[in-house]
Amino acid sequence: MIAFAKKNISFKLGILLICAGFNVNAQNAAKFPLIPYPAKLVAGTGSFIITPQTAIVTAREFNSEAIELNSLLQKGLGKKLKLDNTAKIHAIKLVYDASITAPEAYSLSITTNQLVIRAKDAAGVFHAVETIRQLLPVSVETNTVHKQLTLPAVSIEDQPAYAWRGMHLDVSRHFFSVSYLKKFIDRMALYKMNKLHLHLTDDQGWRIEIKKYPKLTEDGAWRTFNNQDSSCIKRSKDNPDFIIDKEHIIQRNGKTLYGGFYTQQEMKGVVAYAAAKHIDIIPEIDMPGHMMAAINSYPFLTCNGENKWGTLFTRPICPCNETTFEFAQNVFTEIMDIFPSKYIHIGGDEVDRTDWGKSDACKALMEREGIKDLPALQSYFINRMEKFFNSKGRKLIGWDEIIEGGISPTAIVMYWRTWVPDAPVKAVKNGNTVIMTPGEPLYFDNQPDQYSIYKVYHFNPIPKVLNTEEAKSIIGAQANIWSEQIPSERRADYMAMPRMTALAEALWTNKADKYDFYLARLVEQYKRMDALKINYRLPDLSNLLNEYVFTDEGRLSITPPLPGLTIHYTTDGTLPDAKSPELPSPLIIKKSELIRLAPFTASGARGDVYNLNYKQQQMLGAVKIAPPKPGLACTYYKAYFKETALMKDAKVDSTFTTDKIEVPATVKAPSFGITYKGYIDVPADGIYTFYLTCDDGGVLKIGPSVTVNNDGNHSAQERSGQIALKMGAHPFHLDFIEGGGGFTLKLKYSVNGSEPQEIPANWFKN
Ligand code: ACM
Repeated sequence: MIAFAKKNISFKLGILLICAGFNVNAQNAAKFPLIPYPAKLVAGTGSFIITPQTAIVTAREFNSEAIELNSLLQKGLGKKLKLDNTAKIHAIKLVYDASITAPEAYSLSITTNQLVIRAKDAAGVFHAVETIRQLLPVSVETNTVHKQLTLPAVSIEDQPAYAWRGMHLDVSRHFFSVSYLKKFIDRMALYKMNKLHLHLTDDQGWRIEIKKYPKLTEDGAWRTFNNQDSSCIKRSKDNPDFIIDKEHIIQRNGKTLYGGFYTQQEMKGVVAYAAAKHIDIIPEIDMPGHMMAAINSYPFLTCNGENKWGTLFTRPICPCNETTFEFAQNVFTEIMDIFPSKYIHIGGDEVDRTDWGKSDACKALMEREGIKDLPALQSYFINRMEKFFNSKGRKLIGWDEIIEGGISPTAIVMYWRTWVPDAPVKAVKNGNTVIMTPGEPLYFDNQPDQYSIYKVYHFNPIPKVLNTEEAKSIIGAQANIWSEQIPSERRADYMAMPRMTALAEALWTNKADKYDFYLARLVEQYKRMDALKINYRLPDLSNLLNEYVFTDEGRLSITPPLPGLTIHYTTDGTLPDAKSPELPSPLIIKKSELIRLAPFTASGARGDVYNLNYKQQQMLGAVKIAPPKPGLACTYYKAYFKETALMKDAKVDSTFTTDKIEVPATVKAPSFGITYKGYIDVPADGIYTFYLTCDDGGVLKIGPSVTVNNDGNHSAQERSGQIALKMGAHPFHLDFIEGGGGFTLKLKYSVNGSEPQEIPANWFKN
């Protein structure tokens, strides 16, 4: 591997300046490790000392928040403070202030004499309490008793940028206990998130008791292991976080079943718990599609009594029978009794409407009501349900498919389909309120990588084409966690954290220029997460590749990304554990081999495993091409491919030439494949690294062998590989497939360890 020496003076100066900036950030981060960072913070001098003698003085409106604050302080002091409205000095004061008009806003003034929280609404006071929590020592989280607690003097004025700061959890595909929901709510509160959307029902399990239809949970909450479970079981061989929580496995009539559900009473307890933390729980009962668990017990719900999978989705319930509306209204009546939320989610996504088109009842209804097509028939269902919701004083939320057949402007649209970018714009122009949850980057069930936090932090909920007035219809955003591949609390923690902190700051503080400072504060927050036993994803080991090439010897050095982490590795193909040898600095590699390594915390928790494939290689000689033409020769196939190799037998749709590796703007097909063929003409000998990001798959060959393999149907991910090239032209072949949805293709290069950069257009020849 060729060593890369950074000789450039101005580059060094840049590093110095960055380091100086980092120190300032690190100092401030340690003193005010707040996430989300307040809208305005001015540090004071000195500190306020809380002792068991300090009194709490509260306005009547904020009694509950005073109790929350007192419970927090009790964890650190071992006893509760007195609530004493006569206390004059050295007190903690919760003051009603009608001049603070923004919802959820608060001010916090900490001086050597007193701590004063001001707000107009109780949510504002609660957020101030969570700010105080983040200023208290981490040891408070583990009930460590202190003689006194010290808070830095500071003046904060704070309010959220967006009203909807949501998290979603799918409790259907895999189930999560009441105690986990409460932990999840605690974490949301810690980071000032305020909406928890529970996806309570789906094909794979019905999770909420409905007294009128007991079979929904007696039968619908339980299943034999399905293909999602078997995939988790397979993955658990390499990662114990994929072991299915035993708590949710039962034996019944000689069968092993997976599942569980919440009784209405249990769920009311969760709702009250969340309400005390100013978090609304929004229930989703997904219909008319995704209803297999219900239809199994109540087959009258479909148009033809059948209950099976269509091409992609299960058969929906039938919007053409009055019995369906009776069922749906009865279910939602009980749901509204459990959940006081102003918003109720009806799902409405991914509906296979084929059976509706064949049903005599639907034909008759469409004729009678003048419904022109099947999307409009779905709108008929949603519109009727919305009227029912409104009659109970609630607002309907649906996934963005609900706008396809026309929708009333009072429904709230939850945008998720990244590949339909105009859906939220259309909804806004139709007068609807919109919540943004685009799959990229807000599906937190997508495997996180080194770019995820950056992308979430910089997520802007407002589509660029909206003007200021229209932008007001976007009330915020939410991250969704679908649990097909999340069978345990530890895996759910890993997927949610720390990404949720980035989203919290994007939606509350909304200042992209604070990113480096946020990262410094996040390092501080990890300590609190450790105390709270959150299985957060450890930071990435930066600048690692998947495939390495060296000519004489390879050298591998890694600086752990957090203090206290150590890196352990194996070379025999086995998974590294905390007892595997610690990686020396550097590790010298003399032969082709696979190095598997991972960071470990002091308690032995393992971060992501990295597989680094080192190959010894001679420099590849250039080939002669005469006369070269500019660009790459491309072939376009308009079909769906599961993997790139399947393109070779497909019918060619068209051909074109390009000097840019990207999805051509003219391509409109939902699924397709493109091959890019020709030569890459490099200007100097070197070890070249190629970074291929694609959604879906791509495979890059330079010379005779594969340089980067990023094949298959998957969300946007980068994979990288190296090759030693002599100056001149080398055969280049890139296959790319789009399965539907992502439309992402990027290829960058670096040479001898330089920063990744765009490939100059004139390097491509054919
Ligand atoms: C969804 O992901 N089907 C809303």
